[in-house]
Amino acid sequence: MMDKIIIFDTTLRDGEQVPGCKLNTKEKVELALDLEHLGVDVIEAGFPISSPGDFASVNEISKSITNATVCALSRAVEKDIQVAGEALKYAKRPRIHTGIGTSDLHIKSKFNSNREDILARAIQCVKWARKYTDNIEFYAEDAGRTDNDYLARVIEGVIKAGATTVNIPDTTGYCLPYQYGEKIAYLINNVSNIDQAVISCHCHNDLGLATANSIAGVISGARQIECTINGLGERAGNTSLEEVVMIIKQHKDLNFYTSIDATQLNPMSRKVSDIMRMPVQPNKAIVGSNAFSHSSGIHQDGFLKNAETYEIINPLEVGADDSKIVLTARSGRSALAHRFKKLGYEFDRNGVDVLYDWFLQVADGKKEVEDADLTLLAEKYKERN
Ligand code: KIV
Ligand code: ZN
Repeated sequence: MMDKIIIFDTTLRDGEQVPGCKLNTKEKVELALDLEHLGVDVIEAGFPISSPGDFASVNEISKSITNATVCALSRAVEKDIQVAGEALKYAKRPRIHTGIGTSDLHIKSKFNSNREDILARAIQCVKWARKYTDNIEFYAEDAGRTDNDYLARVIEGVIKAGATTVNIPDTTGYCLPYQYGEKIAYLINNVSNIDQAVISCHCHNDLGLATANSIAGVISGARQIECTINGLGERAGNTSLEEVVMIIKQHKDLNFYTSIDATQLNPMSRKVSDIMRMPVQPNKAIVGSNAFSHSSGIHQDGFLKNAETYEIINPLEVGADDSKIVLTARSGRSALAHRFKKLGYEFDRNGVDVLYDWFLQVADGKKEVEDADLTLLAEKYKERN
């Protein structure tokens, strides 16, 4: 029996917090419809109290989305929750996401408070949210650095108050995968009513561990992952949706599945990159322009014999262009002969040897040898032989 991992996309909320990524309501509605089409289960549409524009976006998304749950963020403040509830008025499946910082650092530095007061405020915010919906997610901000025993008390309290999802954010991307996994396991073993809520992973990427931590979380028993397209988000970003989805798809041994249509991952990545004006790094897993490119001789030779030697995913499965053989000074004879063949030229072994020497002279002077360069070399060789 495989377990479903709920995909909670926060591109429009945590992702949009990146400087320079601001979206207007029309763009947000368009992306929300694309996210629904991609198959995400929950769309975090925004933080309605933050601005009239964000309120309008959550409101319009609520009207447009039919299948996915539409979620709005709020702090543990009555007015925030009321405004989130109003913004979600037309949503078919509304969710209020409310919470408060639970690490001692947050409790002291942000709230100038103490653990007991924060516990009471956590419970209170869930009670306020219940006036608007039964679908309430509670976040324990900076849970990654929160004492496990206190975190367990908070989580037990908010579930008792009505939270149906409990979000355990590693807000600063501090945890190592085994620590984050142990934190989730600790909650499962020490919160008496934990079976009444879904545990959610919300991991940031400050140490490049967001994806690994989210996977560690679901292995330990969490059943929701919060993520963004291209891993967009504050500072080093959030967990990347395409990475967790493909890890779950490739590792059948995990016994998990998601509702995401993987063939839409690359088109969606390009769309978000364009609309948010955030280029994707070429070596980004799944969606980077080099994710399915082979440029060194040893890899190209293996790949041409059997693609699986150097590719664990067929690019077409994730909606990317077909695999690419890039010709550079590191390429070998078999890749060169293969490309000549594609261009309509076939040479015997001696011809390939001569052409390979010429090719290396060209390749040392440029980053990538183009088809036009190869055509010139092939014609030169034909003229002389
Ligand atoms: O990173 C975080 O802790 C958050 C919460 C507001 C959910 O984004
Ligand atoms: Zn976050």
